[in-house]
Amino acid sequence: MKDNFISIADLSADEIHETLDLAAEIKAKLKAGEDYKPLRGKTMAMIFAKPSARTRISFETGIKKLGGYALYLSPNDISMGKREAVKDIARVISRFNEAIMARLFSHQHMLELAEYASIPVINGLTDYNHPCQVMGDIFTVKEHRGNLDDLKIVFVGDGNNVVNSWLNLAAKLPMHFVLTGPEGYDPDENTLTNAKDSGISNIEIIHDPVEALKNADVVYTDVWASMGQEDEAAKRAEEFKDYQLNTELMSHSKPSTLVMHCLPAHRGDEITDEVIDGENSIVFDQAENRMHVQNAIMVQLMSGQSD
Ligand code: CP
Ligand code: NVA
Repeated sequence: MKDNFISIADLSADEIHETLDLAAEIKAKLKAGEDYKPLRGKTMAMIFAKPSARTRISFETGIKKLGGYALYLSPNDISMGKREAVKDIARVISRFNEAIMARLFSHQHMLELAEYASIPVINGLTDYNHPCQVMGDIFTVKEHRGNLDDLKIVFVGDGNNVVNSWLNLAAKLPMHFVLTGPEGYDPDENTLTNAKDSGISNIEIIHDPVEALKNADVVYTDVWASMGQEDEAAKRAEEFKDYQLNTELMSHSKPSTLVMHCLPAHRGDEITDEVIDGENSIVFDQAENRMHVQNAIMVQLMSGQSD
């Protein structure tokens, strides 16, 4: 079996729910200390072209707990498309390992990797999207609210890779998704159009953050300058300053509004200490759940294979 996890757009609503259900099952087994090793003998090569804490830690720890092993390949080991052609890397790794997890700049390289690998490829973030993150996020929201009914989620900040994955999710599961940020920082145009045209969710871009936050169930933020945009950090800090998630802005939501951040956070920029450390913050549950959801994804993609 060869399948990939490249984008939430590739999944049906049923498949999304199956993954979330399996993640809950696996999480419960691990918490109960069960000896559950569906990935015994499996190995996964992890290619990182960008830095990472959570993605590396969660995949490496997760696969180990499930009986497998992950190799960490740094930007110096594999220089995707520079030292070697993407298709050659894909073919070589396919001779050794049972899966590839990659964090890359170019989404096109991710697609090429998946095309030429004969083993499953998991997307651990590209400039375009971050599907593992948003699967972990929606799992966390469900865990806290008990369901995903009548969900209003407001993303405050840049229309970045995380937002693109939220839009892909909103094209599959019903929600009210609002992006509030300065003009000129919209998400990917096709992804936004597809999400709107799907008719599944109510999708809005509202530049006034106070208006956007009204009745939000979840308020989510992320860095203003993503990895690879470091040169724009000063300019963005000025343009995004009205979109800082602070106590004043949060006062325009509800007392029960949950706060999320995919991390790493730039405390004092997009979010204040008070908000990220506040009682409505679920960011560390969110970080932990990356592992549980990715465990489900790895089991779905890898456990049916022969060693
Ligand atoms: N949220 C997330 O993907 O974190 P890392 O960049 O540290 O992996
Ligand atoms: N948008 C951020 C997410 C980090 C997990 C980035 O791409 O740097």
